[in-house]
Amino acid sequence: SAQASGESGGSGAKASGASGALAFDKDAYTELTTTITDAAGDEHEVKYHFYKAITYVTKPVDEKYQSLNVSVPVEIDGKAVDATGAPILLANSVGGYMPSSVAEATGVGGGEMTGGPGGGAAGGASASASPSTSASASSGNSSGSGGVQSGGNAMVNAQGEMVNLGKLALVTGYVVVEPGARGRTLVDSDGTYYGTAPAAIVDLKAAVRYVRANKGRIPGNTDRIVSSGTSAGGALSALLGASGDSPLYDKYLKELGAADASDAVFASGDWCPITDLEHADMAYEWNWGANKLSSGSLVDRTVSKELSTAFADYQASLRLKAKGFGTVTARNLDEYLVKTYLEPSATKYLAALSDSARATYLAANTFITWSGGRAAFSWADFLTHVGARKKDTPAFDAFDLSSGENNLFGTGTTKARHFTLYSLRHEGSASARLPGDLPGKIDLMNPMHFIAKRNPARSKHWWIRVGTKDSDTSLTVVGNLALSLENLGDDVDAFMYWDGAHGSNEDPADFMAWIAKVTG
Ligand code: DHB
Repeated sequence: SAQASGESGGSGAKASGASGALAFDKDAYTELTTTITDAAGDEHEVKYHFYKAITYVTKPVDEKYQSLNVSVPVEIDGKAVDATGAPILLANSVGGYMPSSVAEATGVGGGEMTGGPGGGAAGGASASASPSTSASASSGNSSGSGGVQSGGNAMVNAQGEMVNLGKLALVTGYVVVEPGARGRTLVDSDGTYYGTAPAAIVDLKAAVRYVRANKGRIPGNTDRIVSSGTSAGGALSALLGASGDSPLYDKYLKELGAADASDAVFASGDWCPITDLEHADMAYEWNWGANKLSSGSLVDRTVSKELSTAFADYQASLRLKAKGFGTVTARNLDEYLVKTYLEPSATKYLAALSDSARATYLAANTFITWSGGRAAFSWADFLTHVGARKKDTPAFDAFDLSSGENNLFGTGTTKARHFTLYSLRHEGSASARLPGDLPGKIDLMNPMHFIAKRNPARSKHWWIRVGTKDSDTSLTVVGNLALSLENLGDDVDAFMYWDGAHGSNEDPADFMAWIAKVTG
């Protein structure tokens, strides 16, 4: 029973218009009231309409994951809110490339990653552990049930408090869509893996298509969808941004019965994206190769050196240019990162401290020169400061197939596969080739592929963040993602949080303001 409201039957290949099973029923909500602490620490009472567990494809493989929740603010602190034209935050809660479900959530921000963190990765490919401190954007007493639930991939602010972007977006007056997605560990009774690449990105695209197909029915501006995610979720958010409307996903989307609509998103917010996976081992050794493991041991020097050397070719192949640096190659990338990200990051951190706290920090970190209100230091000293690297080598394509990413590129009843020639050949013959389906699937998981092709339907607005102490992947991943987008002329707001760990989100209020600015 499709309601013929809003736009109907536009023309052209990407015409909007969901019908039947994919029509959003605007009356099918529960009204909830919750207290949300905003990023400034102020509490607000938010009344909102909660639409729960909507299956976003007509032929789901697993509805538990292929469903989304919608939250629409109607009253904040007793004042009516009209979110009809508000931006829509599409907040995924994927962590570790694991399955993520919102089907059991009792309110906004309650999605969960199932299967537990990690998945037994050699390199420690684990979703960040839940912080023990209280929530910054915590759910008060939702009418009904609930209480505090963290998203699948928790973000943490500088005080160690949990940050939930869905809740912050709601209290800001935005519509919040929280999609679930299949993940790498899902296996059916026949032993077939059905959440490996490219399942998660296909699902998220299907969710975007659902929202856009319901233009005029679903509250919010469907042409102002802003995607967000952290870590694996940040990678998928970047991929949503880069790959908008690419026909490469069509057969997968068709198979699921995804809505016939555009899957482009307007803007993309990406925290510590674990992406560019097929180059991540090389990048990791270029960045963290000299750092010891937390056990105090060095990684295999031969492997580290070979990978690091291979990275130089990769970096050159990107042909990235930066003002004042010319072409950014492996030779000046360290300096580029220091000047563009690391020193400004330390400067911001130190400038915000009291004089005495700054003096204490500088006394404990004498590698930093503080002069004229600016921090200066070398790349080598920065690496020493970070200390232990999180992952052994190779960080992603583990020789023994034990990483989460090996599982991500599994297929059929094969749980895990190599996805780089380096690791494949290290374990097998020197002329081994990747299985025929893999190069294509690897492209489908990598935003850099679509950026290299200058995909015209990509997001043009980007918010990219990572902590400087995050050694879950190379800092060059964020550096190159941001610079490749800047080289295309996109609007990129990229920043690194000084001393920030994996999953840091130290400026969520700024992100909310940025959404207003770019979508306005
Ligand atoms: C995540 C972390 C990793 O180290 C990784 O390899 C993949 C995903 C995560 O936190 O989502």
